[in-house]
Amino acid sequence: MLIYIFQIILLIIFFTSIIFLMLWTIGNLKNKVPFVTSPNAILKSIEKVIKIDDTSVVYDLGCGDGRVLFYLSNLKPKAKYVGIENNLFPLFLAKISLFFKKKNENKIEIKKGNFFNQNLSEATHVFTYLYPSVIDELLPKLEKELKPGTRFISLSFKFTNKKPIEELDLGRGKYKLGRKLYIYQF
Ligand SMILES: C[S@@+](CC[C@H](N)C(=O)[O-])C[C@H]1O[C@@H](n2cnc3c(N)ncnc32)[C@H](O)[C@@H]1O
Repeated sequence: MLIYIFQIILLIIFFTSIIFLMLWTIGNLKNKVPFVTSPNAILKSIEKVIKIDDTSVVYDLGCGDGRVLFYLSNLKPKAKYVGIENNLFPLFLAKISLFFKKKNENKIEIKKGNFFNQNLSEATHVFTYLYPSVIDELLPKLEKELKPGTRFISLSFKFTNKKPIEELDLGRGKYKLGRKLYIYQF
């Protein structure tokens, strides 16, 4: 009897993993940028350069599993956080984390959708970890919608036609992801 229960549990784990793998693959095929998370080791540096306060409205465009927003919201629970994600797999992870978050969950919104179709005018701070071609494509929208003074932090990649006000080398190894933060002011 016990062996059957064990086999059923194994089958459930196997099929759940297959479904997640399919969702991850389909989502990555749809987007130009795959779901890769910001390394936990650099979250503190993001917090240092983004400079949010209690009145901030922080957007993560392509928020993945939401870890950047959740990390920041633990430090500054009164600020508002909006994550936009269109890949079902990370979206599911972000929603699950939000569900289990006990404090200040009403200050965090995880939206399903394409950030090109969302109005960003409410943001005071924006974080992205996207490819250069995607942030370049986003630039006209950002210039049109973001309020003057909005702080924009990009991990690893910079705009071709906009100069950062600051760059922070995170001092990570040559082969590690997430080695630089580019800070922009709109
Ligand atoms: C490199 S991951 C970064 C995830 C998260 N921001 C982080 O730093 O941990 C980029 C994410 O952007 C999402 N993405 C790419 N293009 C998108 C779009 N047009 N609309 C919404 N999400 C998008 C991808 O699905 C992926 O999860």
